[in-house]
Amino acid sequence: MHLDLNNGWQFIDHYDQAFLSSFPSSAQTIDIPHTHKILPINYFSEKDYQFVSMYQKLFDLKDLKDNKRYFIVFEGLMLQADIYINNHFVGHFVSGYLPFEVEVTHFLQALDNRLVVICDASEDKKIPPFGGAVDYLSYGGIYREVHLEERESFFFKEILVSAGMDGHVEIKHQLDNSKNLALKVYYEIYQDDKRLAVFETDNFVIPNPHLWTPEEPYFYKLRAVIQFKDQLIINDMRFAFRTVMFTSQGFFLNGKYRKLIGLNRHQSFPYIGYAATKSLQEFDADYLKYHLGLNVVRCSHYPPSRHFLNRCDDIGLLVIDEVPGWQFVGEDYSWQEQYLDFLHRMIVFDYNHPSVVLHSIRINESNDYHELYLKANHLAHELDSSRPTTGVRNFIHSELLEDVYAFNDFSHDGTNKGLLHPRKVLPFLKKNKPYIVTENNGHMFPTKSFDDENHRLEQAKRHLQVLDSAYRHKSIDAFLSWCYADYQTHQNFGSGDHICYHGVVDIFRNDKMAADVYRSQLVNEPVLSVLSSMNIGEYPEALLPPAMVLTNAEFVRVYKNDELIGDFYPDKKHFSHLPHPPVVIKSYISSELDQDKRFTTRDQKTLKNILNYAGTHGANRLSIIHQLKMAFLMTKYHLKHADLVDLWNKYVSNWGSDKVIYRFVGYRDNAPIISKEYGPSLSFHIALTPSKTELKVDSTYDMVLVRVELLDQFNNRVSYAFNSLHIKTSNNIILLSLKADGLVGGATSIIIRNANGKKGVGYLQVEIPYYGSQKIEFEIK
Ligand code: GAL
Repeated sequence: MHLDLNNGWQFIDHYDQAFLSSFPSSAQTIDIPHTHKILPINYFSEKDYQFVSMYQKLFDLKDLKDNKRYFIVFEGLMLQADIYINNHFVGHFVSGYLPFEVEVTHFLQALDNRLVVICDASEDKKIPPFGGAVDYLSYGGIYREVHLEERESFFFKEILVSAGMDGHVEIKHQLDNSKNLALKVYYEIYQDDKRLAVFETDNFVIPNPHLWTPEEPYFYKLRAVIQFKDQLIINDMRFAFRTVMFTSQGFFLNGKYRKLIGLNRHQSFPYIGYAATKSLQEFDADYLKYHLGLNVVRCSHYPPSRHFLNRCDDIGLLVIDEVPGWQFVGEDYSWQEQYLDFLHRMIVFDYNHPSVVLHSIRINESNDYHELYLKANHLAHELDSSRPTTGVRNFIHSELLEDVYAFNDFSHDGTNKGLLHPRKVLPFLKKNKPYIVTENNGHMFPTKSFDDENHRLEQAKRHLQVLDSAYRHKSIDAFLSWCYADYQTHQNFGSGDHICYHGVVDIFRNDKMAADVYRSQLVNEPVLSVLSSMNIGEYPEALLPPAMVLTNAEFVRVYKNDELIGDFYPDKKHFSHLPHPPVVIKSYISSELDQDKRFTTRDQKTLKNILNYAGTHGANRLSIIHQLKMAFLMTKYHLKHADLVDLWNKYVSNWGSDKVIYRFVGYRDNAPIISKEYGPSLSFHIALTPSKTELKVDSTYDMVLVRVELLDQFNNRVSYAFNSLHIKTSNNIILLSLKADGLVGGATSIIIRNANGKKGVGYLQVEIPYYGSQKIEFEIK
């Protein structure tokens, strides 16, 4: 029996001993996942959510049985809690990022059970990641699901399954058998509902297994059975066959080399903090894999929701899981014990996810703590011999106790080559150890979605540079940048507004230019993104610099007002290791000049170069050589000043000149595969893109993230729109974003949920004064 305990809790945002016996009628009714304080997007204090709150859930259990045991499972609350059931104190638990369970067998009754949780979200210096500074927020509340489980007097406490590409299956199980009964355990293996075999041992082989791969994540079913006389306790779960190997020559999955390219992810969302339901967890995994084209994600800096990992399993996105922590290691015993306890719990809880390929077991970017990390590495291997360990450092030549050296390489500053050579970073005598880059960029170049174009372009260029470098070094097994999305943080980090603008997408999950760096390299569908709006007024002196195009096309054909400028090819010189180097549009002069019979072919070319240089660098910056060549052409062709003005007006668009529209067409196999237009924005429309159009009540309510964009006539986002939104919803939909917020750099996202018990069709309507309104409908099940 499994009873979800997610709906209809009472909540009070402070502690009062009197409420231990009964909650006042003023308590708010809420559902789990719950964030106990909704924050604005920026400018707040991290103290705002660090308080003690009280939760109460009333429930019946009509078929309560005497011979069963009952447990309440909390999947995650921040940070620690005292739990009471029917006025009995059942314990104090530390959760943070990890689940825990409470046995309540002796305190339950058939009717009117009262579960009270006193949840303390204060940063406790005795518990990782706290004690020092932390560059992210931990929010507060019961932010992952809660349920009650009925179990027999004996049950599986743990079933840990690993299965390799050779068909070898190893199961580690633990029983709760308080009555010391003579129990028998056996396993049945199913493939597509067909029973393949039955085993009475924990180690066995399934010959020629169908392997799990990122392209085809394939699962078998394990039925683990406890038999006591003729009573059977059945546990069904899925598992997969796959073997991971990090080597000094690269990463191998099932014996096949792959370069791992990914991003770091924080699990926070605007407004709701950590309290994202299953569908938003899945949204992030899908966005990383399908939209950005990545094959690995690092769960920085703590274990994620089970929904996130399940989705990674489902879609074949590889995961580096990480123990909670950030730079600080407490010297005292209790801090270190808590860290080891978290490590233990992380490995056990996440063990059965084939997507998890590496345990990151050190506190992120901490110093070498020999004794502690020796213990941690030993513990990790003892619990899980099927996966390698790593520890993330931010300094070179750190002591390597784990299997893989992980380094946050922030050496690229926009002027140098990219990443350090692994041999420079690895400690002496360990030069042949597997090596991964777990972070780069991030704080080296914070970038807001509403920064000017040059700034956004620079962020993209830096990502291109480090990515090129990662491809260059075969011995960099995995390369992950900082980071996926902008995130809220403490006052001592970020841009002074409590946001670290380090993402390749913004906090709302809207792409910045840097997102297209990954898309253009890794996604199969045609990608073409011009890192410029082609508006000269965006640039000093109205000089449009050469535009960079991120594309997976073979070349790009460019038109200006329907006149061909020319074909441009990937810049293999500067980015020789990228699968798809960017294409730089170096000239904006129409190819019509090539037809101007007044000039010889050679002189057409010279004229073109001079005009282009003047157009992109300024006429007053022409070099002596340019000027001499121009004087020569003027003499040779008897050109007067008025002829030069004509040429300028015809071929170089300038401040105040008529509208100029550029068209970029990507070609593959000499056929156009994608086309985009850029130019002055003249007409506008609102685009609403929901993460899905169905809200479905499962074990709890459901959420949808709706992207809101203001687009111009070319469907390009208008980057400097900050208009407020007027939002309306049907009464079966609840808005979780703040009603009064508006566009941030031409886009935002709205998070909605379904209201309990109200099914049917629902809608969200967004009006932006002057630009009109859009409405989308949802099916609420
Ligand atoms: C790293 C750290 C990350 C983040 C990043 C910003 O040092 O591990 O959590 O703070 O810097 O670039």
